[in-house]
Amino acid sequence: MSRPLLTVILAAGKGTRMRSARPKVLHRIAGRSMLGHVLALAGEAGSDRLAVVVGPGMDGVREEALAAAPGATVFVQEAQLGTADAVRTARAAIAAHTGDLMVLFADTPLITAATIGKLRAELDRGAAVAVLGFEAREPGSYGRLVTDRDGALVAIREAKDASPAELQIRLCNSGVMAFRLDQPLAVLDGIGNANAKGEFYLTDAIEIVRAEGCRAGVVVCEEDEVLGVNAKGELAQAEAIWQRRARGRAMAGGVTLIAPETVWLSFDTVLGEDVLIEPNVFFGPRVTVGDGAEIKANSYLEGARVGPGARVGPFARLRPGAVLGRDVHVGNFVEVKNVAMGDGAKANHLSYLGDGSIGAKANIGAGTIFCNYDGFFKHKTEIGEGAFVGSNTALVAPVKVGAGAYIGSGSVITRDVAADALALERSAQDERPGWAQKFRAAMARRKAARTA
Ligand code: UD1
Ligand code: CA
Repeated sequence: MSRPLLTVILAAGKGTRMRSARPKVLHRIAGRSMLGHVLALAGEAGSDRLAVVVGPGMDGVREEALAAAPGATVFVQEAQLGTADAVRTARAAIAAHTGDLMVLFADTPLITAATIGKLRAELDRGAAVAVLGFEAREPGSYGRLVTDRDGALVAIREAKDASPAELQIRLCNSGVMAFRLDQPLAVLDGIGNANAKGEFYLTDAIEIVRAEGCRAGVVVCEEDEVLGVNAKGELAQAEAIWQRRARGRAMAGGVTLIAPETVWLSFDTVLGEDVLIEPNVFFGPRVTVGDGAEIKANSYLEGARVGPGARVGPFARLRPGAVLGRDVHVGNFVEVKNVAMGDGAKANHLSYLGDGSIGAKANIGAGTIFCNYDGFFKHKTEIGEGAFVGSNTALVAPVKVGAGAYIGSGSVITRDVAADALALERSAQDERPGWAQKFRAAMARRKAARTA
């Protein structure tokens, strides 16, 4: 597989059936756009050059492509005249390239790099074109792979152009094709539009190369891998397939999932060995969990780093910038955002910890709030190592609490607290001996007078 590879990704479709203001290929699966998934696949499959074909006015798609793959070239297909026309739009990239050419659809996001590897291996075996096919449960509108008695690929027939006999074929075209041609543009330019749809079909390339005496090969994969997304229902189906695979990979890597089907992972979730994940946990993008950590039921994590041995939840929310050290405990109804918690620090109940830092072994009492926002700016709260913050404390940022300091419960802390000091902010307790007894007696007399 030493020949350089140019991958052309088709993304010009409007995706009308998504019923969305957002271009189809920007809809996400596991936190990453479909286009992002396909660009990642092209990279994993060893592409040396990438071209993305978008529709007119799809600036968002262009930006997403360049953000995910800065070296990619974006081409605009002015009118959607068919898949062959779409590939020809990337003419400049194809002309400048010597090597193999692969075509992927940006709305077909579940193909694996292993399958692409098989397609390239088919080129290595001497095929001029290799097509990714699958046995369709319902062949419907898919192109049919027409083979001869020896199983060699003769043609791809679009459903609208197929004979009744051809429509019986269940082996269908996924749309993914790889070419090993000296003159790919000559083949592409030879494709016309004399067919039922009046479109330029990329699939016509098969008959053209065969007429030149070259071989066309087929690689067959599971139907799940080539699911195309055209509507929201298929988007959810693709998400489900992706999640099933990712859970399987996590478990194979040593993660314990008590109820795998209730755990939602992101494309980039990193889970260490012996991580335990209880039911109903959601991972947004950019989460890393260290070995042996436990994520308890009903927790929501995004942009967070959880250290080894840490315990999160149940019902915890870790937002971007939450960095939990080793053995940190974050308990129920605690929200952590942009706060680093040192090793062994604890916040077990009902707190908002936003913008700041918490030293190792510090203890944050129930109901502690970092008051980080004054309506205009965000400010930091810094808690020193081993400090003890009493329950129901409001820390009005910017503020620092020194190492080992104590904060009395119910305090509103507006000034820095020195190390090892006690800070207390509440009025003195007033106590009246016997008051309750006298009050009850007076009330009993009043009640008796009314009912008399
Ligand atoms: C295509 C295949 C069909 C295959 C099916 C698999 C052709 C002629 N047919 O049919 O054999 O079974 O995919 O799903 O290739 N696109 C553009 N510009 C265009 C036309 C299409 O960018 O002018 C993009 C679309 O956005 C889409 C992809 O190419 O991502 C496929 O196009 P689509 O029109 O959906 O092709 P099908 O008719 O489904
Ligand atoms: Ca399609």
